[in-house]
Amino acid sequence: MLYVKICIGSSCYVKGSQTLIEKFQEKMKEYGCEKEIDFVGSFCTGKCNRVGVTFTVGNEIYTGITTDNFNEFFTNTVLPALKKSKQEA
Ligand code: FES
Repeated sequence: MLYVKICIGSSCYVKGSQTLIEKFQEKMKEYGCEKEIDFVGSFCTGKCNRVGVTFTVGNEIYTGITTDNFNEFFTNTVLPALKKSKQEA
């Protein structure tokens, strides 16, 4: 199981957490990995950025995720982390 948290603290919320939650859920459906990723909201992780939303993937924190770079983030960060979590299971 891969644990992914999206920050829904006020700073990230105004920068689009809600939209990114929907996008993340769509991607999980697209890749059929809804049962392999535990996707939850989190409070402020203390990494508020000027741009974008903060995600935590496993133990790593990623800042600055926006609707523009979301697809790249999912492909280059989430999918490899998912693959790794399956290998370790
Ligand atoms: S509100 Fe998201 S990191 Fe602070």
